[in-house]
Amino acid sequence: MISDSLKSVIRDIKDFPKPGIIFKDVTPIFKDPDLCSKVVDAFADRLKHLQIDAVAGIESRGFLFGLMLANRLGVPFIPVRKPGKLPFSIVKKSYELEYGSATIEIHTDAFEPGCRVLIHDDLLATGGTAAATAELVTELKGVVAGFAFVINLEFLNGRDRLGSFSSDIITLTDY
Ligand code: PRP
Ligand code: MG
Repeated sequence: MISDSLKSVIRDIKDFPKPGIIFKDVTPIFKDPDLCSKVVDAFADRLKHLQIDAVAGIESRGFLFGLMLANRLGVPFIPVRKPGKLPFSIVKKSYELEYGSATIEIHTDAFEPGCRVLIHDDLLATGGTAAATAELVTELKGVVAGFAFVINLEFLNGRDRLGSFSSDIITLTDY
């Protein structure tokens, strides 16, 4: 099962990036090409009932499977970036993180109005990042087709922040 395969390589790093945080390190997944393919297969399988016109991946770890998934689905990839990185005109949103606060940005011409955008990130924690992305998609008159995460930290209840945008919240492994 994909969840067990992921759990066998994802490692806990204590006190990173700050004391008291147990960080889920996903880098071992990327060392295993077969597991990477299985992750994309699992996403594609669980998303097949959805109409998806584009995949928005959130900087930086959401870029890694985001582009692979967009390519598998045969749709455009939209980078959602940290401040000051996107060169064209942007809309931006600030939000609170599990540790600290953050801002994300998206190009105003990232997609056409009515586009059904799947939001992807490696990890769902509090849901602040994905919710901010969903707000930007909505502000640009897109439709949130769903969310796809490799990891869900269930105890932080991130799903509760996302349900108002879409009930399709796919997670491959939960802690
Ligand atoms: C982490 C993770 C998600 C976000 C989840 O990213 O990759 O993007 O936090 O947190 P939330 O659900 O509480 O919003 P981080 O900001 O550490 O940056 P990175 O992906 O560039 O490492
Ligand atoms: Mg991230």
